[in-house]
Amino acid sequence: MNLTRRPRRLRTTAAMRALTAETALRPEQLIQVFFVRDGISEPQPISSMPGQYQHTLESLIPAVRQAAEAGIKCIDLFGVPLDDDKDEIGSAAWDENGILNRSIAACRAEFGDEIVIMADTCLDEFTSHGHCGVLVDDGYDTMIVDNDATVELYCKMAVSQARAGAHTVSPSGMMDGQIAAMRAALDTAGFQNVSIMAYSAKYASAFFGPFRDAVESSFTGNRKTYQQDPANRRESLLEVQADIDEGADMVMVKPAGSYLDIVREVAEFSPVPVAAYQVSGEYAMIEAAAANSWIDRRAVALEALRSIHRAGADMILTYYATEAARWLRED
Ligand code: PBG
Repeated sequence: MNLTRRPRRLRTTAAMRALTAETALRPEQLIQVFFVRDGISEPQPISSMPGQYQHTLESLIPAVRQAAEAGIKCIDLFGVPLDDDKDEIGSAAWDENGILNRSIAACRAEFGDEIVIMADTCLDEFTSHGHCGVLVDDGYDTMIVDNDATVELYCKMAVSQARAGAHTVSPSGMMDGQIAAMRAALDTAGFQNVSIMAYSAKYASAFFGPFRDAVESSFTGNRKTYQQDPANRRESLLEVQADIDEGADMVMVKPAGSYLDIVREVAEFSPVPVAAYQVSGEYAMIEAAAANSWIDRRAVALEALRSIHRAGADMILTYYATEAARWLRED
């Protein structure tokens, strides 16, 4: 054949392929997610997320050490309180002796500024009903989460996390105006340098299923009155723009794998770094298929992460972070 273009020329050798690779994922771009549970003496495996644990305060520290040694620069902490500490408004969330704030403080004491210590800033783990905020009867068919009352509580939580030593807070509740309010609360409390990673475009996704096991959630129902409809695209652009206008230092799209179009569009206009969250269901599906030997675990996990990066994510929150960082170094 007489072809002008033979794209395969650039695929002939490993060196040629490395030379012409368009993107390269770095360990520094991966954020390791951790769960810490109150009242347990040994780390508990999470059955729907093989290889992931509910940590104790004591087991968390060596796990974070391993992440740091693998080249991870940021961790994201979720707290799982005692059932007895859950209440209607989630007050254990801003208690300085609450499990999440103690975890933040323990990590900051151990690691200082060696890694970025980020915490989830949302009430769902701490409320008895499992919703991301306080419920109100507004005359609709179902109780809905009261936006403004919830934002006030997020502000208390963010300030308590900053006080505990968090470098970054990460509001994941999808309340309107949460970023502006949190920024003002942090500044008033003297935490001008604590940054905000906004869960800007977060969908009401069934891919969060295994996470609910991980945090022993008391939740039943859905979050459709505050998280986005998976059918929507334009709405994400509005949400991201609002968070940028309100002062978000970083914005996020969540989940990642089934929302790569959104990641790409956000990456195209965002003036701040863009994160994407490869969520529990994405992890669980890879693990389940790999456990059956239906797919190559390492290859698929890396391909999924590279795809999210290629779509435009500067950072990826993932349960694979530590392991993937090691793989990337080996490759
Ligand atoms: C809520 C929150 C959720 C996740 C992270 N933060 C669950 C939800 O919104 O229902 C899901 C993470 C995952 O599935 O890995 N604070």
